Amino acid sequence: MAGVRNIAHNVASIEGRHLPPDPPRHFLDIDQFEAPALEAMLDTGLAYKNGRRDRPLVGRTLALIFEKPSTRTRVSFEVAMRQLGGDTIYLNTADSQLARGETVADTARVLSRYVDAIMIRTNQPLKLDELARHATVPVINGLTDTSHPCQIMADVMTLQEKKGPVAGKVVAWSGDGNNVSASWVHAAVRFGFVLRLACPEELSPPPRLFDWARREGGRVELTTDPVQAVSEADCVVTDTWISMGVEASVNRHNMLAPYRVDEYLMAQAKPDAIFMHCLPAKRGEEVTAGVIDGPQSVVWDEAENRLHAQKGILTWCLG
Ligand code: CP
Ligand code: NVA
Repeated sequence: MAGVRNIAHNVASIEGRHLPPDPPRHFLDIDQFEAPALEAMLDTGLAYKNGRRDRPLVGRTLALIFEKPSTRTRVSFEVAMRQLGGDTIYLNTADSQLARGETVADTARVLSRYVDAIMIRTNQPLKLDELARHATVPVINGLTDTSHPCQIMADVMTLQEKKGPVAGKVVAWSGDGNNVSASWVHAAVRFGFVLRLACPEELSPPPRLFDWARREGGRVELTTDPVQAVSEADCVVTDTWISMGVEASVNRHNMLAPYRVDEYLMAQAKPDAIFMHCLPAKRGEEVTAGVIDGPQSVVWDEAENRLHAQKGILTWCLG
């Protein structure tokens, strides 16, 4: 069968068509990679940021499936594909047959006949897995309720640009133990930095994440004390208290209020610590305007790095 496939590949490439690598190179979560592969993706992304101008994805198309809203993820993937020579097709699930009950598996099989890669932002991680199981082209995780790996690749790139090699650096998270914090845990283990998470007990990331980090020899700590978490940190991070799909409540607000990143909390970190936030942000809730718009904030560079980091991911996925 492998021989048959190779012949099909050769014919396809003679005809100028592109067949996916076998098996497809999915980018589903940071924990699924070894450090050198992740570092290579970031190096490629940085090379494009620093002036590399080749267009290796000419003739390739990326489908972008969004089940939830997006500004950064959609635009950065669209621009990254165009700058690499490729093209994109945007699919809002509400306007597609997914909304009328067509299965994710069938959608994966059909899209794989048209496009060269699929990015999906979905509420359920199971849908991402189903898409990846049935697609014959690479699938990229553009956020689920449990992780946001493309964001954290951009965040690690930003940390590295601002602070040098990330191994041994101290990153502190203060706030909701959400999807973004879970990808930070994956990254801390794979890139070898210390991660201290301060979350209310009820809103801590799932224990299986910490078990995994321990098994992998990572340095990931959980506390309910934000001051303890940020003490001597090189980087302080937070995220919205109300992720997409989460219901706002007074109780939730009250639980998270002590974790707001304000000027006092920032002052407990190293004097030259940076502040990061994946955005969108709600000033006055998880972060004060003084911090996010202040001199330690690097959120705009962080947002820009989505574009560059994703070029590294796209070129890896599309071989
Ligand atoms: N940070 C991030 O993923 O932003 P969007 O929701 O705008 O894509
Ligand atoms: N935790 C946020 C991240 C948005 C990019 C959410 O899931 O809504």
